[in-house]
Amino acid sequence: MTDKPAVALLGTGIMGSAMGRTLLRAGTPLRVWNRTAEKAEPLAEQGAVLGATPAEAVDGADVIITMLRDGDAVLHAMKEAAPRLREGQVWAQMSTTGPQAVPAEAQFAGEYRLSLVDAPVLGTRQPAEQGQLVIMAAGPDAARPAVQPVFEVVGKKILWVDDDAARAVASTLKLVANNWVVGLTNAVAETMALAKGAEVDPRLFLDVVEGGPLDVPYLRMKAKAILENNFEPSFALENATKDAALIVALAHACHVGLPVAEAMLARMRKAIEMGHGDEDVAATYFASFGS
Ligand SMILES: NC(=O)c1ccc[n+]([C@@H]2O[C@H](COP(=O)([O-])OP(=O)(O)OC[C@H]3O[C@@H](n4cnc5c(N)ncnc54)[C@H](OP(=O)(O)O)[C@@H]3O)[C@@H](O)[C@H]2O)c1
Repeated sequence: MTDKPAVALLGTGIMGSAMGRTLLRAGTPLRVWNRTAEKAEPLAEQGAVLGATPAEAVDGADVIITMLRDGDAVLHAMKEAAPRLREGQVWAQMSTTGPQAVPAEAQFAGEYRLSLVDAPVLGTRQPAEQGQLVIMAAGPDAARPAVQPVFEVVGKKILWVDDDAARAVASTLKLVANNWVVGLTNAVAETMALAKGAEVDPRLFLDVVEGGPLDVPYLRMKAKAILENNFEPSFALENATKDAALIVALAHACHVGLPVAEAMLARMRKAIEMGHGDEDVAATYFASFGS
């Protein structure tokens, strides 16, 4: 027996799998579901109960976490879970759906009397594995006793930004943060590409910035991937491009000019067309060399 909240995790991709392992290590009772069941099986071997459907996974959970690709996938999974949802369950929606998807999520939560917490995260595979995510959370105070202990297992920083998930402050903040992520990624990729194209050793550029204010860990991570030609995804280019499109749409909706974000989106789409969508977002590097 345990007094820890029982968690249902819908989505065991890169992030969901890592979060699931972290929850299991902390002794969390965990039920999991993934569209492609094989990706959830390793978690079952580590102690999670595998649900064949989202409904099976959410049965009896105190907290339901969705960690799926986008708003459509999230809503679809929750609709499939509907037969076993019960009033008062906390739904922590942690995927990056953008504020655009939040009204439909809030409406669904209202219909099934779920307590919605809009809770996207900053941090990639390794922070998820180490319980070091930053969680931007918006939701009612009543949800916190159940969800806060779960957030504290997967997160190092939990920023409660609003008490009403429906206002989408957390998901909006996530896109603001991801504009920074997408910007850094593309800046690293283009800088490394310029060095290569101009026949300057890119390592010399890294030496130039080393230890100064322009040297950031993200530069090191993405430059390493490029130098080692290792694009195993911790954040897939496809997903990052989905976020770049959400950012551009948000900018249009609030009448803010972001021409750089638009150019980055085009660049990322080009790298996908070149066949790099399943690789890490650092593979936007290749867009500099295609015709
Ligand atoms: N990776 C990162 O660094 C990072 C950081 C912060 C936030 N995020 C966000 O977290 C979410 C998950 O990211 P991830 O990196 O774990 O992505 P991922 O590895 O690509 O996994 C995506 C997940 O969504 C599922 N999915 C996709 N389309 C679906 C559909 N139509 N119906 C049902 N399930 C569907 C996939 O199922 P299958 O296995 O069946 O394909 C998988 O479980 C995304 O919103 C992403 O933007 C990612």
